Amino acid sequence: MEAIISADSQNCFIFILLCLVSLLCYYLFFKKPKDVLNLPPSPPSLPIIGHLHLLLSSLSHKSFQKLSSKYGPLLHLQVFNVRLILVSSASVAEEIFRSQDVNVSSRDVYPVDGSILFGSSGFFTAPCGDYWKFMKKIIATKLVRPQALEQSQGIRAEELQRVYGNILDKARKHESVEIGKETLKLMTNTLCRMSMGRTLSEENGEAERVRGLAKESFALAKKIFLAAILRRPLEKFRIPLFKKEIKSVSDRFSELLEKILVEHKEKLYDEQQGADMLDIMLAAFEGENAEYKLTRDQVKSVFVELLFAATDTSVQATQWTMSELINNPHILKKLREEIDSVVGETRLIQETDLPNLPYLLAVVKEGLRYHPPGAIMIRKFHKKSEIRGFSIPDEATLIINSYALMRDPDSWEDPNEFKPERFLGSSRSGKEDEKEQALKYIPFGFGRRGCPGSNLAYMSLGALIGMMVQCFDWEIKGDKVNMDETFDGMNLTMVHPLKCTPVPRIQPFI
Ligand code: HEM
Repeated sequence: MEAIISADSQNCFIFILLCLVSLLCYYLFFKKPKDVLNLPPSPPSLPIIGHLHLLLSSLSHKSFQKLSSKYGPLLHLQVFNVRLILVSSASVAEEIFRSQDVNVSSRDVYPVDGSILFGSSGFFTAPCGDYWKFMKKIIATKLVRPQALEQSQGIRAEELQRVYGNILDKARKHESVEIGKETLKLMTNTLCRMSMGRTLSEENGEAERVRGLAKESFALAKKIFLAAILRRPLEKFRIPLFKKEIKSVSDRFSELLEKILVEHKEKLYDEQQGADMLDIMLAAFEGENAEYKLTRDQVKSVFVELLFAATDTSVQATQWTMSELINNPHILKKLREEIDSVVGETRLIQETDLPNLPYLLAVVKEGLRYHPPGAIMIRKFHKKSEIRGFSIPDEATLIINSYALMRDPDSWEDPNEFKPERFLGSSRSGKEDEKEQALKYIPFGFGRRGCPGSNLAYMSLGALIGMMVQCFDWEIKGDKVNMDETFDGMNLTMVHPLKCTPVPRIQPFI
């Protein structure tokens, strides 16, 4: 008898459990959200997971592009019960950013508790409140405004010479160069010197550790992107997506940065150099009367995120553009002729030459159009809104496919060809061009959350690519560079990173 009661209560328990799970599944996967209004068109999807498979693809920018060319530039996708609004044309993007910039001014990235990497102390994930405004001001005044860029010109010139020296050394030994690795060193050193007045030490392994951690963070980027989108359904199950991996990288970064912060504090203040970005942030951490009181984690997060934002984007952009130059010898020749005629053969190209090198700027811009590192950008709609007569629910995730947008045949002639000439004849300043071309050219995003580092990026990429073209011929294995791409991280990356052998062409006196 006891055995029967026990079996009955067991069955009853299983039955109740099944009911609960079914209810939960119904609620999560099948229950339509309340406000099914006039949403943008939605392409066919799979049961339950909806369009999840598209997000998981390593070529999601291309899968989205295919969808938009078939079903239109404004689409509604669904993953479980999460709504995504996919935008793939300049005119729709323009409508959103002109009328809804504030509404879409935060990123839909899930902050990982206690992490300095994409955590709640981050600038990248912060809403446009006091903290974001304060940090944006510091980044502008200390790093990227024209006056700050002029002051730090010497740093970038020295770092460029250092890369030139490294490449020349390899050329003399007939060794190959990994273009991405050299760019990563250049950008990390430049950024550290500009923001905290010193480079990372190669001798004690500090630089290598930071580069390693940065690489690990880039590898986590796609997971963070997925976590952002799947957060809402999965947090109901209390599934902390990838939290352990993110925390592990964050803790090691935090430990390393703590050492750097302590050393920076002990360093004697250099009256002549004035306060650098880190001095100002440490003052805002310590000062009771600071304009905004920062936490220690916020100081660290900004450094990690700046490294993240500035380095891999520049690494990918340099590799893609150099690969296009190697694959298109007529463009390389034309560029070299321009540099030779303006700079000559006796000195190394400098940033101050860039305004006189319109074809070089056109090559850099075309590289960013054709292979935008940030191929997909994510924001969130805070409020309900209306776009092109369609209802957009609040909390919907906005996905802007800048890859598709910058290859849209309605906006660009021969969009699938690398043609720097398309940028000639327009004004020389990247900023003015962007305004002119509105939202058809958005490698740096748009609106208040657009990239503040675009001027720094144009200068760094222009000088670096200019130096590599001015001083070296480049040999590769085979006829053409393999241009296979993947969007497995946060940036559009070469499946086979560019590796080529430099042959000295001229050796300017430096
Ligand atoms: C080729 C180089 C670069 C590319 C392609 C690039 C691209 C981007 C993109 C697409 C975004 C997101 C924009 C949006 O959501 O609308 C962004 C944000 C950002 N970038 Fe860049 N970037 C580059 C270099 C840099 C550099 C050198 C810095 C250093 C100052 C930087 C700092 C940032 C920051 C801080 C943000 C976040 C802005 C915010 O949330 O308010 N980037 N970048």
